[in-house]
Amino acid sequence: MAESSGILIKGGKVVNEDSSVISDVYIQDGKIFEVGQNLQVPAGVRVIDAKDKLVIPGGIDTHTHMELAFMGTVAVDDFYIGTKAALAGGTTMILDFVIPQNGKSLLEAFDRWRDTADPKVCCDYSLHVAVTWWGEKVKQEMETLVKEKGINSFKMFMAYKGVFMLEDSELYAAFSRCKEIGAIAQVHAENGDLIAEGAKKMLSMGITGPEGHEQCRPEEVEAEATQRAITIAHSVNCPLYVVHVMSKSSAKVVSNARRDGRVVFGEPIAAGLGTNGSHYWHKDWAHAASFVMGPPLRPDPSTPGYLMDLLANDDLSVTGTDNCTFSICQKALGKDDFTKIPNGVNGVEDRMSVIWEKGVHSGKMDENRFVAVTSSNAAKIFNFYPQKGRIAKGSDADVVIWDPKLTRKISAKTHHQAVDYNIFEGMECHGVPVVTISRGKVVYEDGRLNVTAGAGRFIHRQPFSDFVYKRIKQRDQVCQPVAVDRKPYEGKVVSI
Ligand code: URP
Ligand code: ZN
Ligand code: ZN
Repeated sequence: MAESSGILIKGGKVVNEDSSVISDVYIQDGKIFEVGQNLQVPAGVRVIDAKDKLVIPGGIDTHTHMELAFMGTVAVDDFYIGTKAALAGGTTMILDFVIPQNGKSLLEAFDRWRDTADPKVCCDYSLHVAVTWWGEKVKQEMETLVKEKGINSFKMFMAYKGVFMLEDSELYAAFSRCKEIGAIAQVHAENGDLIAEGAKKMLSMGITGPEGHEQCRPEEVEAEATQRAITIAHSVNCPLYVVHVMSKSSAKVVSNARRDGRVVFGEPIAAGLGTNGSHYWHKDWAHAASFVMGPPLRPDPSTPGYLMDLLANDDLSVTGTDNCTFSICQKALGKDDFTKIPNGVNGVEDRMSVIWEKGVHSGKMDENRFVAVTSSNAAKIFNFYPQKGRIAKGSDADVVIWDPKLTRKISAKTHHQAVDYNIFEGMECHGVPVVTISRGKVVYEDGRLNVTAGAGRFIHRQPFSDFVYKRIKQRDQVCQPVAVDRKPYEGKVVSI
């Protein structure tokens, strides 16, 4: 087979996060063997012409939930279909979430996720682990996960009261633990108490449809939790990563914190960058319900553009999708009560095109920033750069040939995902992956997939990522509170 004897990508513009240069890329044995001009390669090597095209690192989706059992049902994109769709869209790695039940072992949940994902994944993947309760066992298992299982990120929920939500004192303890073991703390930032009260209020007012989902958790509910998480993380000098930043208010909180020098990263998702929450008011219930996710998309139509502006100028850092797909008949579990609509939307297949269209084609960011926010920043934050997220000698051969001029229309009729709708339906996108190479093998070419279940590998990640922890470590050295050296007080003390 041609690929086993190598692939030469000829004459494309190689785009990394810091530069673009016309170069050939020679791939062998799953790695990038050489990058340079007019590369001489052995006979029998397959040559792919990339003239007038970009050669970019494969996308890294920082946030997916394949086949997640959630809210009484199971997400329809499993690890096979989900990663296949990812590859069709130019994404060559996903980071999914292990979410243990309250009170259950993190390690056992991790093993279960590995057992499920390993035989199915068509591209490389890694796992974040959620901390859904607190106790000594959790504390110990977090260390084992970091030291023995290749985990360096833990997600804490500030919402889903009574299910996954942690109290502030537990967040403090979990962030402190992350800091000790060199992990990055992630938060789902929404005030779960206010959501519970808001939902009761909406239902009591007779608002049972998807519009109630947004109205019971307005922007400030997200912004308040974001600020609270940043404050708690700062108090223990722990790096923080805010997953799915969905509102202007919350993005401003992240941005202000970064300007105040906090080590915090914000992750907008394809849904929030590509569409908005006005759909919750759509007359067709199924249409409205298909957009339900938490935190919700925001009805303010300027939100996606604003999030993209902040992503372009580094106030926000990296992009995921929160791909967690439930078909309409599953969403219908909440047909009479919006609190029962399974939360989640699609995105894993379309993220790259949506960001190119709304970010690069619109003129908000250049091709290098596109690479930064779709792959290299993720690899840096989660500590597998330059193994991934870079086109360079020695990096994994996860490579996409991207045609910035080609267009495609997003539709559920043509997508590769299992879900029966697409929240980006009808969106015309410039920027199309024409070839996707995963682990050195062409897995997608001119609209055709050639994938193998189980071909992807689990990527182990080391703690104390330099990109995240250098500043943290230095602050620990020089920014400790110091007691004032003074003589003891020797005057009178009132007797009580
Ligand atoms: O609606 C969402 N986001 N579903 C997945 C679970 C989560 O909070 O990320
Ligand atoms: Zn979440
Ligand atoms: Zn999520």
